[in-house]
Amino acid sequence: MNTRANASELDTAQPAVGSSHFHESARAQVAGAVSYIDDIPEIKGTLYAAPILSNVAHGTLDSVDASAALAMPGVRDVVLSKDIPGDKILAAFAHDEPVFAIDTVQFVGQVIGLVIAETVMQARRAARAVKLEITPLPAILTVADALNAQNYVLPPVHVRRGDAAAALGSAKHRLQGSFEVGGQEHFYLEGQIAYALPLEQKQWWIYSSTQHPGEVQHWVSHALGLENNAVRVECRRMGGGFGGKETQAGHLAVWAAVAANKTGKPVKLRLDRDEDFMVTGKRHPFAYEYDVSFDDTGRITGLQLQLAANCGFSADLSGPVADRAVFHSDNAYFLEDVDIASFRCKTNTQSHTAFRGFGGPQGVIVIESIMGDIARALNKDALDVRMRNLYGIDERNVTHYQMKVEDNILHALLPQLEATSNYRKRQQAVADWNAGNAVIKRGLAITPVKFGISFTATLFNQAGALVHVYTDGSVQVNHGGTEMGQGLHTKVAQIVADELGVPFERVIVTASDTSKIPNASATAASAGTDLNGRAAQFAARNIRDNLASYVCGLDAVGAGAVQFADGKIITPKRTRDWNDVVKEAYANRIQLWSDGFYRTPKIHYDKTTLTGRPFYYFAYGAACTEVAIDTLTGESRVLAVDILHDVGRSINPAIDKGQIEGGFVQGMGWLTTEQLVWNDNGLLTTHAPSTYKIPATGDIPQHLKVDFWHEANREDNVGGSKAVGEPPFMLAISVYEAMRDAIAAARKGVGVDEQEPVTLSAPATAENVLRALGKLS
Ligand code: MTE
Ligand code: HPA
Ligand code: MOS
Repeated sequence: MNTRANASELDTAQPAVGSSHFHESARAQVAGAVSYIDDIPEIKGTLYAAPILSNVAHGTLDSVDASAALAMPGVRDVVLSKDIPGDKILAAFAHDEPVFAIDTVQFVGQVIGLVIAETVMQARRAARAVKLEITPLPAILTVADALNAQNYVLPPVHVRRGDAAAALGSAKHRLQGSFEVGGQEHFYLEGQIAYALPLEQKQWWIYSSTQHPGEVQHWVSHALGLENNAVRVECRRMGGGFGGKETQAGHLAVWAAVAANKTGKPVKLRLDRDEDFMVTGKRHPFAYEYDVSFDDTGRITGLQLQLAANCGFSADLSGPVADRAVFHSDNAYFLEDVDIASFRCKTNTQSHTAFRGFGGPQGVIVIESIMGDIARALNKDALDVRMRNLYGIDERNVTHYQMKVEDNILHALLPQLEATSNYRKRQQAVADWNAGNAVIKRGLAITPVKFGISFTATLFNQAGALVHVYTDGSVQVNHGGTEMGQGLHTKVAQIVADELGVPFERVIVTASDTSKIPNASATAASAGTDLNGRAAQFAARNIRDNLASYVCGLDAVGAGAVQFADGKIITPKRTRDWNDVVKEAYANRIQLWSDGFYRTPKIHYDKTTLTGRPFYYFAYGAACTEVAIDTLTGESRVLAVDILHDVGRSINPAIDKGQIEGGFVQGMGWLTTEQLVWNDNGLLTTHAPSTYKIPATGDIPQHLKVDFWHEANREDNVGGSKAVGEPPFMLAISVYEAMRDAIAAARKGVGVDEQEPVTLSAPATAENVLRALGKLS
């Protein structure tokens, strides 16, 4: 079936950048005509793996008896740590995770080995028949216990400026508080999967649903004891990643490859949904303690803040995640005398990992929560308190990590949203409603977002691309980024199309492949288009330059006089068809393909002191959210959301709007219904959609309006755009603040001091809302 759109069905007017082209595979996806890893035709002899999981949170692994499993129908082999030919420890940066559990287990769900069988179901059944003898050891399951025991995956980090203790001591107003926010399961629709194919001469081809093919390549070669060049990793697309496939797709690839190495057969490993929940890490749950002082106007004068991240049993990406939380615990606000302590707590749970926002949301929510508490303490409007604390333009504009905020647009963006959302009138309407309704209480809040764009590890901010022009004039692009639904390939195709002046439909983006672009960074930190879009643009520019000098020679004009647009190449003397020039240029031995390389300018950062300019620029936005809570049942509903978000000059408005809506709704899920519950034995009891509730269509607010900020990126970024993947996630903190506003309204007149902080643990489930109302302990 031809599922690519016809040129006539689309808006093909130049330029492609700035128009809402369909996602490059949208039509094929809805027609079921694209392939995910599990759809790839299998090689004859392919075997299937299922994981053997620890059922104890912490213990010594005394024995693994696979005899019953091996006797079951179709079972071919069992693969354990001893079968790993290379390093038995994963090549993750902290080198603190065994590939398969060796002599201890560290969480319920840890993979001890694999059963290999002729069908998936045979493997899964047999994996359950493997008998484990584990002697339990004391397990640490909560952040509080980890903090008490000083049980960390990485050492604590402190960032200080000024003298917070002195500021607190001399303050007129002071508040203390503590609360927790939960983790979040990624719930990508396509679960984790890898398919490992042994090739000739100890070479490998790995299909992996991964955000980071390069890291999968490194991990697999390390475990197999091979050089990187022996392993090729390919990923055409993921059915969602959301950070969950930044590192943890690599585990599956290594497991499948070890099994394929032992059996000599291709091996596919696909976790079912319950296993995926049990095995893989999630967003880091956080616990906070703060002590803040402020003046009569609500301006913060001093802040001591403790952020404790539940990292699970290993470091994984916890270092940079916790760093990003520290970098975002100012959100949009100037903190003069501040002392932040960040603890990276080790618990006997899954190893928590990247998740949209990468610690940013866990930083932003604490300062936004403090803003709400200050407003209540002073009986002021919370938006006024937020405005009062914003970073200044010419002063009060240096972050606690010593980066000057040069592109602050919130002084204009927030008032614009205040006006378009009718905030002041609606505050009055909410107050009127609350005065007249005893049971259902409403709340309203505007919260801003300022999110730093770039990998904080400066070295990752590089990218490569290859652009090929074939003799028929069609164009193929390959770059180091991966497609997970966010529209990266579409945007890159748009950028290349414009650079060459050809219609979007002439450009195809091919699968991410470590043999095409080496050493590519993860597609993460929202920087996919910034990095790969620019690299592809530079590659296309080289080809364009080659063609321009060729036609200049023909027409005897200067190279600057040549234009590429609408499938034509135009000089002051003649207009030629792109296809004709390409054909002729080929015949004249002109190079029709090129590489491109980009590295982000201006950034630098000292990771021991967490100071410098870690971010190239900031992406901004704000949301106004209205909620209602039922004070008898604790149930809640998000009624209306108005968003004003900054994507710079949008490369694809439809895709950007989708990212903003999707990010918001995913954030709303994190803060309202998505609750992870580990029982006292460390077993995750919420491990399927039956017990873990992500937002459904019925949860989408009736009114959900998204507007774009009008201005281009002030830094020189591709097409004048800004990154959009993660920043909108944090707009959902307005839901949490609106919920706390409604809870505060419910406390009025029931004997609670109205000026006290509202302590609401996230997610704001019915139970947690009732707890915040003092109706449940
Ligand atoms: N959008 C979809 N549809 N699926 C995803 O998995 N991941 C998010 C975001 N948007 C994701 C998504 C995350 S965590 C990041 S970092 C960015 O996309 C990565 O892609 P980008 O850098 O190309 O925006
Ligand atoms: N964001 C996302 N992923 C990352 C980062 C980051 O800042 N650093 C390392 N991996
Ligand atoms: Mo996104 S959490 O940086 O993969």
